[in-house]
This record gives sequence, C-alpha cells and structure tokens, in this order.
Amino acid sequence: MGHGMCNRLRGKAIMVIGAGTGIGAATVARLCAEGARVCAADVNLPAAEAVAERMTALGHDAFAVAIDIIDEASVQAAFADAIAWLGGLDGVHVNAADLRTIFADSNALEVDLAVFDRTIAVNLRGHLLCTRAALPHLLAARGGALVYTSSDACDSGEPERPSYAMSKSGLNGLMRHVASRWGRQAITANAVAPGFVMTPEMIAGGQVPPEWIDHCIAQTRSTRLGKAEDIAGVVAMLLSEDGRWINGQVFHVNGGALLH
Ligand SMILES: NC(=O)c1ccc[n+]([C@@H]2O[C@H](COP(=O)([O-])OP(=O)(O)OC[C@H]3O[C@@H](n4cnc5c(N)ncnc54)[C@H](O)[C@@H]3O)[C@@H](O)[C@H]2O)c1
Repeated sequence: MGHGMCNRLRGKAIMVIGAGTGIGAATVARLCAEGARVCAADVNLPAAEAVAERMTALGHDAFAVAIDIIDEASVQAAFADAIAWLGGLDGVHVNAADLRTIFADSNALEVDLAVFDRTIAVNLRGHLLCTRAALPHLLAARGGALVYTSSDACDSGEPERPSYAMSKSGLNGLMRHVASRWGRQAITANAVAPGFVMTPEMIAGGQVPPEWIDHCIAQTRSTRLGKAEDIAGVVAMLLSEDGRWINGQVFHVNGGALLH
C-alpha cells in the first residue's frame, strides 16, 4: 500500500458508509493501512464484504455491514452492528451516493422529479440520518470526526446535473452546521469535494466516454485524472489527529480543476 509505515490512525474506530466500491473502498484500504479498525458499510453488502475480506487477508481489522442510508431503521441497525463490533466510534466517512441517476439528471426544466427526489433522498436526507446516528457515539467518545464526500459540482456551476449539484451544496450546509453546533464538543465536520475521479469500477466498466476523459484532463492543472486513492489520503488526514484543528471546511481535491 505504501502507507503501512504511517500509524496515524492506530486504535481509531472508523465507519465508512458507501464503502463497497470506488472512493469508499479506497478509503477503507487507506484507513486500515494507517492502523484504523474499519467498518465498511454499503447497500451493496457483497461489495462491502469483499472489501472487508481483502483487508482481513492483509492482516487488518475490518468488517462489513449492510446499510441503506435512505431508510432510518437500516441506518440505526447498521450503526448498532458497527458499534458492537468496533466498541466505540472515533470517525465516520459518509460517502454514499446513488450515481445511477446522474446521467438522467439533465437540467432544471427537464429533469424527472423522481431523479431529483432520489438524489435528495440519498445525498441529503440519507446524510442527515447518518449524521444523527453517528453524533451520539462521537460525543460519547468525547470527540470525533465526520467527513462527507461532496463534489466539485457544488461550486462549478455545470449546465447539467442540477439535482446532484443542489444535493452536494446542501451537504456542505449540513457539514458546516455540524461543525458549528458541535465544534466546542470536539466534533469536527469537513467535506472532501473530488473533481472527476476514475474509479477502478469505471475503468473496468469501460463506459466512460474518451471525450469526457480528455475534457476532464484538459480542465485540470495536473498531468492526469484523479484516482480514488487521491481522495482517500485526504479523508485519512481529516480523520486523524492531523485534522483536529480543521473544522467546517470543504476540501476540493481535483488536480486544480477548480481554483478557490
Ligand atoms: N468519481 C467521481 O468522479 C466523483 C466526483 C465527485 C464526487 N464523487 C462522490 O464520491 C462518492 C463516491 O463516489 P464513487 O465515484 O466512488 O462511486 P461508487 O458508486 O463507486 O460509490 C458509491 C457507493 O455508495 C453506495 N450507495 C449508493 N446508494 C447507497 C445507499 N442508499 N445506502 C448506502 N450505500 C449506498 C454504492 O453501493 C457504492 O458502493 C459519492 O458521494 C460521489 O458523489 C465522486
């Protein structure tokens, strides 16, 4: 992994939600490599189990739970299982999004309201449910870190994907609220906002149009596209002691595609 020497997260109990594939799976690997004990949660349980099994085969402490973040009972049950196994909670990365709807998220005049509602249900309401489930445990631990996965789309003003952009902007609002309300109780809340990241699943699927890849590389101030590991490293930092005085921030990790 290349990070095995860094034990920044040793002893930390961390839950990653949306951990089965892509950025979440890479984050589980990075957190484990830095010494954390990790609960990998996903609506796609077989994928989360495969991630956890890869980690345990490497000698790390990881296990999988099923969670559907749109369903309050499922969120409660997943947190109960996670806490029982972890014995406490020091940090949560809320990373899930239902990206199957993103290509139908056309524009404000034409978007099907079912696509809008689904996007908001997962990316906003689901993140509120996860926040409510996580906070009592983080407070019981006398502090902890929440990291949300936002997107460059929250600030870039794209002509497509209005529901997605609205949901990620709203998520930044939730994150700033949590930082403001509970910062003095040693809770940190931050968002990592990726630019376009070509995940292993996208590479394997072969369905990302080459023109889109060229367009994304042309937009960056970088030599390449983003990798899931580029995001995972920033999430690990925010969950570690190195991130303890960082609160209420949106970190754009995008190869310089969008400047602030
Ligand atoms: N890949 C990119 O270019 C990119 C760019 C910006 C932001 N993001 C954000 O990064 C995050 C991860 O994206 P990714 O590219 O790795 O995609 P991904 O589809 O590989 O990962 C998302 C995970 O969330 C899970 N999930 C979906 N709905 C869920 C639900 N209701 N409950 C629980 N889990 C659920 C999926 O099963 C999947 O494992 C998302 O929040 C996405 O919006 C990705």
